[in-house]
Amino acid sequence: MLSDSTRSAIQALMARYPRARSAILPALYVTQRQIGWLPNEALDEVARLFDMEPMEVYAIAGFYNMFYKEPKGKFHLEICTNVPCMLRGANEVADYLKERLGIGFGETTEDGNFTLDHMECLGACATAPMLFARKSQTEWGRYYENLTREQVEVMLDDLLDNDDLPLERDPAGPYHHDHHPETNFLLARIDKPDSHTLDSYLADGGYETARKAMAMEPAEVTEMVKKAGVRGRGGAGFPAGVKWGFVPKDIYPRYLVANCDESEPGTFKDRLIVEYDPHQLLEGIICTSWAIQANHAFIYVRGEYIFAQERLNQAIAEAKAEGILGENILGTDFDLEVTVHPGAGAYICGEETALLSSLEGGRGHPRLKPPFPAVAGLYAKPTIVNNVETITHVRHVLEHGAEWYRQWGTERSPGFQLVCLSGQVKKPGVYEIPYALTLRELIYDLAGGTVDDRPIKSIVPGGLSMPHLPSASLDVGIDFESCEAAGSLLGSGGVIVICEGEDIVSVARRMVSFYREESCGKCTPCREGSGWMEKILLRIENGEGTLADLDRLKHISKYIDQQSFCPFGPASVWGVRSTLFLFGDEFKAHIEETNPEGAKPKIPARPIYRAYAGKPLENVLDD
Ligand code: FES
Repeated sequence: MLSDSTRSAIQALMARYPRARSAILPALYVTQRQIGWLPNEALDEVARLFDMEPMEVYAIAGFYNMFYKEPKGKFHLEICTNVPCMLRGANEVADYLKERLGIGFGETTEDGNFTLDHMECLGACATAPMLFARKSQTEWGRYYENLTREQVEVMLDDLLDNDDLPLERDPAGPYHHDHHPETNFLLARIDKPDSHTLDSYLADGGYETARKAMAMEPAEVTEMVKKAGVRGRGGAGFPAGVKWGFVPKDIYPRYLVANCDESEPGTFKDRLIVEYDPHQLLEGIICTSWAIQANHAFIYVRGEYIFAQERLNQAIAEAKAEGILGENILGTDFDLEVTVHPGAGAYICGEETALLSSLEGGRGHPRLKPPFPAVAGLYAKPTIVNNVETITHVRHVLEHGAEWYRQWGTERSPGFQLVCLSGQVKKPGVYEIPYALTLRELIYDLAGGTVDDRPIKSIVPGGLSMPHLPSASLDVGIDFESCEAAGSLLGSGGVIVICEGEDIVSVARRMVSFYREESCGKCTPCREGSGWMEKILLRIENGEGTLADLDRLKHISKYIDQQSFCPFGPASVWGVRSTLFLFGDEFKAHIEETNPEGAKPKIPARPIYRAYAGKPLENVLDD
């Protein structure tokens, strides 16, 4: 079933990795491009090429959303309806698309031109509503952003009239971004013409910092990053230099993985860097790889970031041609290969151990820690996984020094950061700000306030997984400690603003639908519990809930929080728990209004029992 060219392409991909199996996701993309989807017969042949059991390959193909288990239309349209997009009218655009195409989600038009689906966050929350269009049997895929009814019509014409679509999206330029007057470093080059090219980067002094770093001892580089106190920007905020220090002595090879999976709803900062200043990331990768003495770095990029992958591959090719990457880089005896690895649509792969499972050619399942990846990571070798923004900060610290970096922020959250502002604000986008700037300064001074000057109902400071803060939190500093003291977490720096007038029940239900969809299924509390919570919230939303459902939500979420295998479980319930806490009266009012006392739920809740007690959960647990 596989053509000769598909087989050769897969074999070439296998040769790019230290272990051939790591090429399984790229190989499935190649196979899907040839056939249009992934029938079992094709997967059997892929399994033979990789010397794997067919069931393993079926399981991998079935795990990732971007692999098709059935044929799609000529164009696959996936509209994001996650919370930040929902707050900016995504559901209305989705309804219009359904009506316009005469199909529902999961259906294909009679002429076979379009399949429509809804999708989770695609890292374009600042340009919501947005849609990801892919053309079957090609590499082509692009984002359509800031969608209105009119823009939908333009998009449909664009797709139907143009059989020769360029891989790159229209040169619309970088989406909205701004900075505090004192901090314009990471985004300083974004607006320059051809900012993504090597010539442009070199003209701005590019790769001089990498030369400087490589003239230092690796331990000195690590020490400087430690002194600067650079915190991880992926969510946990762990100090990068300290993490590097965990790499055991004398064990080689070592690997660096730049995490560009960026799938936390409300987060879209790394995309801006890799699309418009990829050499800045590559320079940070050289500095970091030198510090930890890794000769192979991977950039794990979420599958939908097709434009970003293209830009990164171009940048790597340019750098290799000039001796900046490859063998004996920058005139030294240090070798460094950088491989762009595409994800395939699995939120869990943002978690570092799940990412490594995926990069090794498996389902993106998290692993037990310890051992931590710094000790036993990719192929059980020492591996540092750092977020794209974290690695980019390293480059600036090495250029200017630790003291320079510490002039901003606080003792424990030093320096500056990229925050992603989305939801109901006038100017959503990426903002480069010092740590500890307040939410008020970000939302009102930099972003012009809320849409139609509506009062704020709640703010999520660190991506959709983090607890909501009430509107009274506007003077909370945007740093790790202040957000925690206020009752939430800074997470990935995705600030989502929700205004008065939004139905909190719908917001909570949509949050939980996301986590139910994205649970990797490895552990029972998260896999089953997220589904239970969605069912309960759906019936409340549909006017069939009871007040007892609110207690059920609290009980179930408590157990998911405490008993899940990986951080995904707790993160999947913090948002809902915080809305129940902050807006409990609103949930109650919704239930009393839509399902007056005595009404029974039409969709019965799945009975929840303590196995050994046999009593209904609400009778045996307190909260
Ligand atoms: Fe829709 Fe992020 S792109 S929520």
